[in-house]
Amino acid sequence: GKGNYNHFMQKEIFEQPAVIGDTLHSFINPATRSIKLPDMPFNIGDATRLTIVACGTSFYAGLVAKHWIERYAGLGVDVDVASEFRYRCPPMPKGGIALFISQSGETADTLAALRYAKSKGQKILSIVNVPESTIARESDVVLQTYAGPEIGVASTKAFTTQLTVLACLAVTIGRENGSLSAKDEAGIVSALTELPKQVAEILHHDEEIRNLAINIADARDVLYLGRGLGYPIALEGALKLKEISYIHAEGYAAGEMKHGPIALIDPLVPIIVIAPSDDLFEKTVSNMQEAAARGGRVIFLSDAKGLETIGDMASATVEMPAVADFASPILYTIPVQMLAYHVAVHKGTDVDQPRNLAKSVTVE
Ligand code: F6R
Repeated sequence: GKGNYNHFMQKEIFEQPAVIGDTLHSFINPATRSIKLPDMPFNIGDATRLTIVACGTSFYAGLVAKHWIERYAGLGVDVDVASEFRYRCPPMPKGGIALFISQSGETADTLAALRYAKSKGQKILSIVNVPESTIARESDVVLQTYAGPEIGVASTKAFTTQLTVLACLAVTIGRENGSLSAKDEAGIVSALTELPKQVAEILHHDEEIRNLAINIADARDVLYLGRGLGYPIALEGALKLKEISYIHAEGYAAGEMKHGPIALIDPLVPIIVIAPSDDLFEKTVSNMQEAAARGGRVIFLSDAKGLETIGDMASATVEMPAVADFASPILYTIPVQMLAYHVAVHKGTDVDQPRNLAKSVTVE
C-alpha cells in the first residue's frame, strides 16, 4: 500500500535513501571501501567498447553511465534508445560487451535489442529491478537494483538505483582495466556512501519545492538545462514533468541553448538549471545569464558555494548539499522528481497512472 503517502510516486521518491542504501550495500565493502560486483564469465577490464541500450528514463541512466565510464574507466561507450538501435542493425565489435538497462526487464524494444546483440556475439550484461524478468533470464550477467516494486508509472527510485549500480560498474571497469587506483576507488565509494544521507536532506525541502511547483504549474513550456553529468538529469527532469503534469518540457545541454532553443525564452517560460559547483559550473552560469537576460524565469539548483556565486541572478533557488562531482547526478535527480510530482498534484492530474502510459511497455 501507499502507507502515509498520497501517491505511490511520492512514497517511492521518499524511499530513495533506503533503496539507494540497499543497492550500495549489495555491491560495496565498507571495510575496504571497495566495490565487489558479482563474478562475471568474462573479464570486463578487457572490453574495448561498451554499448548501452535502454528506453525512456533507463536510457537517461545510460547517458550518465557513458560520462562516468568514459571519464573514470577510459572506456568508450555508445548509448542508444532501443527502438533506434535495433532497427539500425549496427555492427558490433568482436568480443564486445552490451549492457541493457530496464526497470521491468520486459520492455519489448530493449529485449529485442538484447537478442540482436547476442546474435552479434556480444557478452550480455543487464541492470534490472525484476530479477525473474525476461531480460534478466537472457543475460550473461545480471546486476540487480534493489529498489523494490515500483508501482507509480513514472520511474523514480528505479532510476536512482540504476545510477547507483552504474556508478559501481564504472568503478569496477576502471579498476579492472587499470584506469582507476585503489585510492580513487575508495574516494568514490566514500562519496557514494554519503548519498542516502544527502538524499534524505533534500527530501526535507519538500515544502519549499512544492511552493516553487505552484509557480510553474501554469506554464505552457518549461526548459531544463544542464551540462556534463547534469545534462541527462535535465532530460530526466523534463520527461518527469511532461509525463505526469502534461506540461511541455524540454531538457537541453546548456551550451546548445544559443543554437536554437534560446529563441523560446520569454518571461513565461520557467528554466530549471541543474548546476552543482563542479568544473563546468562557470559555463552553466553564463548560459543561465543569457537566459535571464532575455527575461527567462530561472530556478537554479546548486550547493551553497554555487548559490553564493550567482547572487540574485536567479528568480528562485534550491540549495543542495555539497556533493562529490561523481555523485551529483543521483542527488540532483531528487528535486526534479519532487518538482514534477508537486506540479502534477497541483494540477490534479493522475500522478500514478498518467494518461496514455503503461508501466511496462511490451509493445514495439
Ligand atoms: C518514465 C518511464 C519510462 C521507462 C521506460 C523504460 O518515467 O518510466 O520512460 O523508463 O518505459 O522502462 P523499463 O526501464 O522498464 O525498461
